[in-house]
Amino acid sequence: MLRSVMLCALGVVIGAPAALAASDPLDARVEQLLARMTLAEKLGQMSQMNAGEGKIPAELRQAIKDGRVGSLLNEVHVETVNELQRIVVQESRLGIPLLMGRDVIHGFKTILPIPLGQAASWNPALVQRGAHVAALEAASTGVNWTFAPMVDIARDPRWGRIAESFGEDPYLTSAFAVASVRGFQGDDLAARGSIAACAKHFAGYGASESGRDYNFAGIPEIELRNVHLPPFKAAVDAGVATLMASFSDLNGVPASGNRFLMTTVLRDEWRFNGFVLSDWESIAQLKTHGFAADDKAAAFEAANAGIGMEMVSTTFRDRLPLLIAEGRISVRQVDAAVRQILRLKSSLGLFERPYTDPASYPAVGNQQHLLVARQLAVQSLVLLQNRRDVLPLKKSSLRSLAVIGPLADDGYEQLGTWIFDADQKLSQTPLRAIGDAVGDRVKLRYVRAMETSRSRTTNEFGAALAAARSSDAVIVFLGEESILSGEAHSRADINLPGNQMQLLQVLRRAGKPLIVVILAGRPLTLAGIVDEVDAILYAWHPGSMGGPAIADVLFGVESPSGKLPVTFPRMVGQVPIYYASRNTGKPAGPNAYTPMDEIKVRSRQTDTGLGSHHLDAGYTPLFPFGYGLSYSKFSYADIAVSSLRVRPGEVVVVSATVKNVGALEAEEVAQLYVRDRVGSVTRPQRELKSFQRLRLRPGESRKVSFDIAPADLAFYGRDLRLATEPGDFDVWIGGSSTAELQAEFTILGQ
Ligand code: NOJ
Repeated sequence: MLRSVMLCALGVVIGAPAALAASDPLDARVEQLLARMTLAEKLGQMSQMNAGEGKIPAELRQAIKDGRVGSLLNEVHVETVNELQRIVVQESRLGIPLLMGRDVIHGFKTILPIPLGQAASWNPALVQRGAHVAALEAASTGVNWTFAPMVDIARDPRWGRIAESFGEDPYLTSAFAVASVRGFQGDDLAARGSIAACAKHFAGYGASESGRDYNFAGIPEIELRNVHLPPFKAAVDAGVATLMASFSDLNGVPASGNRFLMTTVLRDEWRFNGFVLSDWESIAQLKTHGFAADDKAAAFEAANAGIGMEMVSTTFRDRLPLLIAEGRISVRQVDAAVRQILRLKSSLGLFERPYTDPASYPAVGNQQHLLVARQLAVQSLVLLQNRRDVLPLKKSSLRSLAVIGPLADDGYEQLGTWIFDADQKLSQTPLRAIGDAVGDRVKLRYVRAMETSRSRTTNEFGAALAAARSSDAVIVFLGEESILSGEAHSRADINLPGNQMQLLQVLRRAGKPLIVVILAGRPLTLAGIVDEVDAILYAWHPGSMGGPAIADVLFGVESPSGKLPVTFPRMVGQVPIYYASRNTGKPAGPNAYTPMDEIKVRSRQTDTGLGSHHLDAGYTPLFPFGYGLSYSKFSYADIAVSSLRVRPGEVVVVSATVKNVGALEAEEVAQLYVRDRVGSVTRPQRELKSFQRLRLRPGESRKVSFDIAPADLAFYGRDLRLATEPGDFDVWIGGSSTAELQAEFTILGQ
């Protein structure tokens, strides 16, 4: 039945798809369509092509008319998107609308902090609102599918894509996986402003050897299940529409041809009923991996593994017909994938509403969206150091301020990686926001000092020092430009690049309070600067509203409340370093460690301590997971467990009293960690199991309670089964992963 819609804005009359009536149940529509499809049309649905970015090349137009493509990526010009949908709806035989995919990773026009920064908020509700803002803006141009969230566990700050991750921890990442899926997809995929999400990269990408992108990942199955898979499972349970296969090679089987991942885990165990998209040409790349001899073998491995849609390369379209004719791939396998793709299109309401009218959406970059970006940026800021309480700055007692550095006034670089669609005009830089905050009362002296974070020139250092000398305090904006993190932007040295260290040393000569704000896509190694500066505020790449958020915190409008979602090493040689590491048989500790400089000449091998440490870096990170200072102080006391001996199936409630013992109202993230003392396999020294963000006035205390169900303590043990093993547990509540307030309980056996 044909239905016509007039899109006046476009000046065209376009028809709704020649599909079934909207009242038909989803499944019936899908089955009826499937029954009418030729094999070529089915394989078309399983093919995603790159769009022409504002143009419709003749070849693409023809492919759409012929039903040889089911999805496009990278088209965000609304007129073009609508025209593409019109072509498919009106001019292809079955009129099946297109999935329009885009990397909407941390905002669309309004840019939120990078995901790693969002994770530092420890605020899933706010991250969910951020994802919804991104979805609304993207949907207004016709994007109906985002390739986000990335839920890879990232324990290697050399890896450029750590910027896109939610950090090192499976529990925290799972919380943000769920929040993002809900934010993008809403309660109803067909609702205006809902877009399909895609949890990626399934699986193990974050463990790429040496942090080099696309590298081999060797992950024992038990580690895969306990560490890397839980966020994907959480996304699946939250209803994520799609998953994307990783580029990487997992234990010798590249993800795009990995049947264990795509079928055994995803379908048989988790009952996922969406579909898996390959990554960009990752099926054809099975040849480059040395896993498939030719396109036909690559198509076989991918289809047989359970990949449902191929991004950009065309091995499915070109080679599956022969593989089907040979009986190596069945039509049933193809139908299963097509069914899932059609179901998604139907759930998105695309058959009823294939076109987009931006006027029916809130304007992109509106005040409400900018406010969410600002709140998220504020909560993402982590105060790492604050000697002599130099922060917050008191406007009333300041007469002048030096603002120095390559990242103080760069509206582009503060946005971070993956910002294809960002509206740079929305960016408010720190310099501008500081200016707005202090008005005419405080004299600002701005010196960029280095053109980029990598510059080696020093010719402006004299001017920077002069500005610092004549000001009451100095704020230096250092870090990494956007291009130094993200896909294929890994680094082996994660110190401040270029001449930034030298700049700091020069500025130190001014003898003024020295505050460093770092904008970066990863944890940088900061051991060289902690003794040089008074305060360090870690801002990640904070997005469009980074400036106002930073100014709010510098001037105490907001107290910093971000906590690290990833461990900060002292030096890169400690990597991988993460809080949930194993105890080992020879744990490190003060009695088992002699720093290298203190080792006496010709000491005996065993005299310097036999602990698991590095002679030159010790055994602790520079800043631990979960850490972050506030302008106030919080004390933790009175830890209690509801039951010391917990019966099988019983929920144990662990509580403590948090008190604001400082002088300012502020927010704190109370964190609960457990340790399973003995397991059938060795267990992490600590594992995050719950957290709560709370706001307390000075002197106010509150009891925080955490329910720990037996399932929360379950893990894959020696037999590779998920179970909660009876035994003794330690539990800690506090403001970081080094929390000291401890209690214990025992889980009883059956
Ligand atoms: C490659 C990246 O790995 C993936 O994350 C992204 O979504 C696709 N390209 C599409 O741009």
